[in-house]
Amino acid sequence: MAALLPLLLPLLLPTANAQAYDATQRDASAFSYIQPLNTTILGPYGNSPAVLPSPNATGVGGWEDAAARAKAFVAQLTLEEKAKMVTGQPGPCVGNIEPIERLGFNGLCLQDGPLAIRVADYASVFSAGVSAASSWDKDILYERGLLMGKEFRAKGAHVALSPVAGPLGRSAYSGRNWEGFSPDPYLTGVAMFQTITGHQDAGVQATAKHFIGNEQETQRNPIYKQNATLNTVEYEALSANMDDRTMHELYLWPFADAVKAGAAAFMCAYQRLNGSYACENSKAQNGILKTELGFQGYVMSDWGAVHSGVASVEGGLDMNMPGGLGNYGTVTGVGSYFGGNITAMVNNGTVPESRIDDMIIRQMTPYYWLGQDKDFPTVDPSTGWLNTFSPVDTWLRDWNLTGPSSRDVREDHNEAIRKHGAAATILLKNENGALPLKAPMSIAVFGNDASEPTQGLLNQNDYEYGTIIAGGGSGTGRAVEIVTPLQAIKAKAKEDGAIVQYWLNNTLLANTDIRSLWIPKEPEVCIVMLKTWAEEAADRESLHVDWDGDEVVARVAAACNNTVVVTHSSGINVLPWADHPNVTAIVAAHFPGEESGNSLIDILYGKVNPSGHLPYTIALNGTDYNAPPTTGINTTGINDWQSWFDEKLEIDYRFFDAHDMAVRYEFGFGLSYTTFNASCLSAAPTVSTITSKPEDLPILPGGNPALWETLYTVNATITNSGKVAGAAVPQLYISLPSSAPAGTPIRQLRGFSKMYLEPGQEEIVTFELMRRDLSYWDVVSQQWLIPSGSFGFDVGFSSRDLRDHVKVTVVN
Ligand SMILES: *[C@@H]1O[C@H](CO)[C@@H](O)[C@H](O)[C@H]1NC(C)=O
Ligand SMILES: *[C@@H]1O[C@H](CO)[C@@H](O)[C@H](O)[C@H]1NC(C)=O
Ligand SMILES: *[C@@H]1O[C@H](CO)[C@@H](O)[C@H](O)[C@H]1NC(C)=O
Ligand SMILES: *[C@@H]1O[C@H](CO)[C@@H](O)[C@H](O)[C@H]1NC(C)=O
Ligand SMILES: *[C@@H]1O[C@H](CO)[C@@H](O)[C@H](O)[C@H]1NC(C)=O
Ligand SMILES: *[C@@H]1O[C@H](CO)[C@@H](O)[C@H](O)[C@H]1NC(C)=O
Ligand SMILES: *[C@@H]1O[C@H](CO)[C@@H](O)[C@H](O)[C@H]1NC(C)=O
Ligand SMILES: *[C@@H]1O[C@H](CO)[C@@H](O)[C@H](O)[C@H]1NC(C)=O
Ligand SMILES: *[C@@H]1O[C@H](CO)[C@@H](O)[C@H](O)[C@H]1NC(C)=O
Ligand SMILES: *[C@@H]1O[C@H](CO)[C@@H](O)[C@H](O)[C@H]1NC(C)=O
Ligand SMILES: *[C@@H]1O[C@H](CO)[C@@H](O)[C@H](O)[C@H]1NC(C)=O
Ligand SMILES: *[C@@H]1O[C@H](CO)[C@@H](O)[C@H](O)[C@H]1NC(C)=O
Repeated sequence: MAALLPLLLPLLLPTANAQAYDATQRDASAFSYIQPLNTTILGPYGNSPAVLPSPNATGVGGWEDAAARAKAFVAQLTLEEKAKMVTGQPGPCVGNIEPIERLGFNGLCLQDGPLAIRVADYASVFSAGVSAASSWDKDILYERGLLMGKEFRAKGAHVALSPVAGPLGRSAYSGRNWEGFSPDPYLTGVAMFQTITGHQDAGVQATAKHFIGNEQETQRNPIYKQNATLNTVEYEALSANMDDRTMHELYLWPFADAVKAGAAAFMCAYQRLNGSYACENSKAQNGILKTELGFQGYVMSDWGAVHSGVASVEGGLDMNMPGGLGNYGTVTGVGSYFGGNITAMVNNGTVPESRIDDMIIRQMTPYYWLGQDKDFPTVDPSTGWLNTFSPVDTWLRDWNLTGPSSRDVREDHNEAIRKHGAAATILLKNENGALPLKAPMSIAVFGNDASEPTQGLLNQNDYEYGTIIAGGGSGTGRAVEIVTPLQAIKAKAKEDGAIVQYWLNNTLLANTDIRSLWIPKEPEVCIVMLKTWAEEAADRESLHVDWDGDEVVARVAAACNNTVVVTHSSGINVLPWADHPNVTAIVAAHFPGEESGNSLIDILYGKVNPSGHLPYTIALNGTDYNAPPTTGINTTGINDWQSWFDEKLEIDYRFFDAHDMAVRYEFGFGLSYTTFNASCLSAAPTVSTITSKPEDLPILPGGNPALWETLYTVNATITNSGKVAGAAVPQLYISLPSSAPAGTPIRQLRGFSKMYLEPGQEEIVTFELMRRDLSYWDVVSQQWLIPSGSFGFDVGFSSRDLRDHVKVTVVN
């Protein structure tokens, strides 16, 4: 979904890590379904083959009855009504399909976003995706999805524009990584499945987005010529160019989990994929999504991501959002690639009416399946007045905004949000018994992330003063209430009879001898609160904390031998002061949601034993990361924005492991106040023979069901070997045999669990490995294949803290 209006302009940011792509270095042979460059047929950058026609939905996999009702609904529509059903209109919500009173259809209300219903009052702000992933807790991922879904429904929103698996996190610098979960496709896949199941169990349609290849913000949209005719393109949007194996094993993987979970909707991405705009990319939408993965729902566009009429309809797009023409589709009164053009393309025989019918059947099937035709709350009237996307007088007559206004839908969700935030908080360093705090009587708090935002709570922003609980753009939340770290620390200190001194001005702190500040003597603990912003429509320029935070840490640590650093951050931060002997503890709290301060003190004071683990790798230096965003294109060709995913499967830990590089804190790392052991690893097949190829079964949502069959179980004994209770996160990594094709990562996450254990308690964890987990994508046969030979299974507590290992041989 598009950002708030001020953020909407495509940005050409000068980036410290700018890397202009040299087109001559392209490895054309790696692209299997992509034709090698043939300028005669495809133009210089076209390389995504046509897959036509767009397949009809059948409702297979449990939606059959709902599909029949959807067909009956479509049969009653005129062609003009059909055109409206697939074209967004101005209305009370961020996206709107207009009601059809004649048929008792109350319209569809689509609302942002992945951590809250954004355009709403009296709603909660939940933890961001990066935090939810850091919990490594399937129950929390589900509960977060469920409670969020309940708030969308109570506000009358049929469709939640959530969750995010694109960006996956190819680049450490991408501006929207925090909206999604993790650069590991397995972890993100589990998070997608749980979140979608949660949203839809609450009766709200989930939208898996942004499909696919949306791995950077820079040049995600075309740049239009200034003062020229509407939509005269100067530069087309960036093209994310990836080979078929990379597509399947990384970027598509979590989207397959989304289809398997029964996601109602997919949102196609802004940028181009292998040369063709994502929203008209028939290979991606018709071929991969609707055929290979058997998706039965509908594809909506990102806001203004539609660049054609007939080509998009044929290419598999089912709903144009927000509907109109104009750079972001928000301009009213200037027509639409859909709308009246749908009527025209059917009437002039270019597109069969059955295709338009299928677009609506795909939309209405999940609507009926979720029972949204019965007792669905009306859109909260307050929503319309908060919505800045279209003036109220352009749509009010069409909508029935009845029922109470400004409904408080928060219930007791703050309790869960506090729990989710604490469970996601990652303890990276803890020396000299710094944490948990033992009722210190003198506490000092430093940094501009500690206290109240001075410029308002609505829509998190990159203001200098104030704690942040989310990033910016359409994925932010409008907080009604934020518990700040300072507020929570002061409340706890008051219970203990302690004093709290605090300084919130980073400019002051970065230029001051800290010893000159405090009264009367060195505090027992110095807590430094740092923040790092990121937002939609811009990539990050640096991985350092913002607002001179590194210097603030240096100043405080020079004067205080018990410095505890806490970050509220969009994601990866390099931590150059991590080895400083006076920095006794480091806590990565990401974007924890509105109970931020309470979640934090639960960890700092040991009410909750930390159990968050990194969903990405923290390198020693920002320049260690590969795959930076493509920036600074310096040529004038309309197609020159190209991003070649030449690193293939080597992103995040797969890259650092392949090149045997030292890192600061590896993927999966996180400390506890106790210690755990993993032992007695065993692995056994659950079937007598394991074929290389999956059985050729009829496609169901999620693809060939054989890919989801358990073929192996792996068990390990996990023991709490320390003195306090806590939750362990055992992780299973597999290594494929050497017969797997070149480029196969050394180790890949294929299982994890969160286990609460009392001191001395031991418990067996069972990992179930599905066929997909043991396979690689074979570009020649276009199948997932299990290689022959010796498989390695490692269990440990991070990608580099592996405690036990077994090997099994598979012959097929
Ligand atoms: C490119 O396509 C044209 C038209 O199909 C064909 O004649 C030509 O041989 C192709 N060139 C290459 C290098 O494959
Ligand atoms: C979709 O179904 C209609 C009948 O409702 C049929 O005419 C059309 O050919 C089908 N399209 C595809 C791509 O199978
Ligand atoms: C576009 O039009 C505006 C106002 O008419 C003018 O100030 C500006 O210089 C024009 N830009 C270009 C590139 O012609
Ligand atoms: C049809 O699409 C064209 C752009 O291709 C646009 O200019 C025109 O306004 C659209 N017509 C309607 C009725 O929306
Ligand atoms: C049919 O209508 C569509 C939509 O307006 C238009 O794009 C297309 O060019 C038309 N085709 C013909 C053959 O008139
Ligand atoms: C508007 O919604 C209310 C339910 O809140 C319903 O009773 C009423 O009939 C609706 N009116 C129209 C015109 O749809
Ligand atoms: C922050 O500290 C700097 C340096 O002392 C000072 O110039 C600035 O005015 C302070 N800002 C506020 C808001 O007090
Ligand atoms: C650590 O803090 C103490 C004050 O407690 C200070 O004297 C010392 O210089 C600091 N160490 C470093 C390496 O800055
Ligand atoms: C830290 O400094 C305090 C006060 O200056 C002192 O009492 C304490 O022993 C020091 N701790 C360490 C580990 O050096
Ligand atoms: C990070 O790498 C860059 C480029 O290699 C180097 O200039 C810089 O000093 C390094 N920073 C650190 C903290 O090692
Ligand atoms: C862009 O082009 C200018 C000359 O037009 C050149 O000086 C500059 O180095 C180029 N930048 C890059 C990143 O290639
Ligand atoms: C793992 O434990 C499960 C459940 O107790 C059991 O069914 C399975 O056979 C065990 N697998 C191995 C490899 O021991």
